[in-house]
Amino acid sequence: MRKDLVIPNHIGIIMDGNGRWAKQRGQIRSMGHRAGVDNFKKLMKYMSEVGVKFVSMYIFSTENFKRDKKEVDFLMDLFVKMFTDEFDEIMKANARVVFSGRKEPLPAKVLEAMKKAEESSKNNTGPVLNFCINYGGQWEIVDTTRKLCEKYKNGEISLNDITPEFIQKNLYQDLPPLDFVIRTSGEQRISNFMLYQSSYAEYYFPETYFPDFGPEEFDKAIEEYNNRDRRFGGIKK
Ligand code: IPE
Ligand code: IPE
Ligand code: MG
Repeated sequence: MRKDLVIPNHIGIIMDGNGRWAKQRGQIRSMGHRAGVDNFKKLMKYMSEVGVKFVSMYIFSTENFKRDKKEVDFLMDLFVKMFTDEFDEIMKANARVVFSGRKEPLPAKVLEAMKKAEESSKNNTGPVLNFCINYGGQWEIVDTTRKLCEKYKNGEISLNDITPEFIQKNLYQDLPPLDFVIRTSGEQRISNFMLYQSSYAEYYFPETYFPDFGPEEFDKAIEEYNNRDRRFGGIKK
């Protein structure tokens, strides 16, 4: 990584193209998911080395439950491995793992593995790694609205407490806004990813399928980010 580049504070990654990566090689989709997770571990090591502070990793959407049961089951087992037996690399990257998403209808074994990952990494001082699993941006806004309505009803907050910053703090995780969102595989849509947090994010849509999106591709992405002119509604002086 070039030393003069600014690293975005909070990076979102929409891991996409695992299925096509496998198909291109005459393999079944599951092989692509396996390769995607292996690549993620390498990428995480690199992101930690270069000093990324916050990463939100979209690995399973609320809509992904529409897929064949076989694929969903494979992914659930893969997540369990990733958060337990294969958790070493994430620990080595010194990442503190948190999760965003709905519990229902995740299988108990996945929820337990998530709890373990959160617990064992809670004192890590490297990047905050927010896994979005069974995550939907619209559901996050719904769940937050419900939570705040409940607080209002109980007299814990008043209407004037509800501001954009307050909502941001009360989402699934209290994280800074997204600065940069990378979606691999060439699809140019956000598929329900962090709608609230991405109000001023820069987007980047490389053609590369996620299993091939390694440190070199990441460097290219950061270079591209550094070419963007972020104005936040103001005028460039
Ligand atoms: C991303 O890869 C992984 C998940 C959404 C879980 P895909 O499985 O969406 O791969 P493509 O888009 O079909 O190639
Ligand atoms: C978005 O990818 C969800 C994740 C990467 C977890 P999809 O592959 O599910 O998105 P669509 O269906 O192409 O929009
Ligand atoms: Mg996809």
